[in-house]
Amino acid sequence: MKKITLLFILILFKVTSGRAQNKPLIDVEKQFSIAAKQYEGMLATHKDLTQFPQSTKKNGEADNRTSDWWCSGFFGGSLWYLYEYTGAEKWKTAADRWTRALDKEKYNTRTHDLGFMLYCSYGNGYRITQNNEYIEPMVTGANSLSTRFDPAYGLIKSWDKHADCEYPVIIDNMMNLEFLCWAAKQTKDKKLRDIAIKHADNTLKHHFRKDYSSFHVVCYLPGTKVFRKKTHQGAADSSAWARGQAWAMYGYALMYRETKDKKYLKQAEGIASFIINHPNMPEDKVPYWDFNAPNIPNEERDASAAAVFASAFLEMSTFSKKNQKLYFKTAEDMLVSLSSPVYTAKIGENNNFILKHSVGHKPGNSEIDTPLVYADYYYLEALLRYKKLTVQ
Ligand code: GLY
Repeated sequence: MKKITLLFILILFKVTSGRAQNKPLIDVEKQFSIAAKQYEGMLATHKDLTQFPQSTKKNGEADNRTSDWWCSGFFGGSLWYLYEYTGAEKWKTAADRWTRALDKEKYNTRTHDLGFMLYCSYGNGYRITQNNEYIEPMVTGANSLSTRFDPAYGLIKSWDKHADCEYPVIIDNMMNLEFLCWAAKQTKDKKLRDIAIKHADNTLKHHFRKDYSSFHVVCYLPGTKVFRKKTHQGAADSSAWARGQAWAMYGYALMYRETKDKKYLKQAEGIASFIINHPNMPEDKVPYWDFNAPNIPNEERDASAAAVFASAFLEMSTFSKKNQKLYFKTAEDMLVSLSSPVYTAKIGENNNFILKHSVGHKPGNSEIDTPLVYADYYYLEALLRYKKLTVQ
């Protein structure tokens, strides 16, 4: 009897605490059990720790990449999420192996993607296990990333070379700032946090249009005097590439979390409003690969963008009283769609990825309507966030 009363009080507390929502529409347990079966298959087909799952090739075979590819941290990261959800030791062992397989990338100064690579893997590993052995690769990696920051520009350079671009910065780079903020806290090296803030501030100044949509690439001259704004993976220089908008919203939400600077929250909310109210947002809230793709509605959806948006919206729902319900509901709608058979693959299919229907780089004729390892990663992250905000 006592136990039942206690359980009742606990549920009542969760429901009335302001954070929790009634009647969750997504069965997180069921979705994690599908994910576990798919990733058991993934582990069985990936024994070589130099071949990281990425997607599906045009001929239907599994597509893998080496550790220097920007997506190499997502597989380990998803394994950590599986461990976090289930507590099963086998996921911890696998996550640890695929995380340590990235070790040499901590010296990689040729990419701005070290946050994706090292923080999604080692970062989650450290957050969940507190294993001190994960600290050094991240601190070394964060210092490698900081070498790409040139004070004359006040930005982290994204790519070494990009056509006629002298100093290209892509919106995706906002996602690497969380890693720098963590390393600054860990090492008490304020410089790393200052770099993150400077980068976020200059991106806020130059990367956005009046309606809060974002360009993909901005080419800079010294002193952050912008000279060209263009796209790489979007439909046009003037278009709103879906995943770019998702990186931007997630990036400013996390910068608000790290700094409590209201201008970052305002930016994330502006982007939220742009995409929620966009006339080309489909009913199921899984965006087309570009909000301005030329042949909408006959264009591919990008499940990866929906997964990133959903995760960010759930975090943002905890920041803002005014928009709490709207953000939670938008994320929930996205997750309901992603969790349906339209986007969630049948067990044993889809080369063992969880989600179908993402777009990597349509103008480059690459990864069009395929699974993508980072769609799975942000989907699992969003499910975990959803679980924390609901009574499951
Ligand atoms: N460049 C990272 C992405 O495709 O989103």
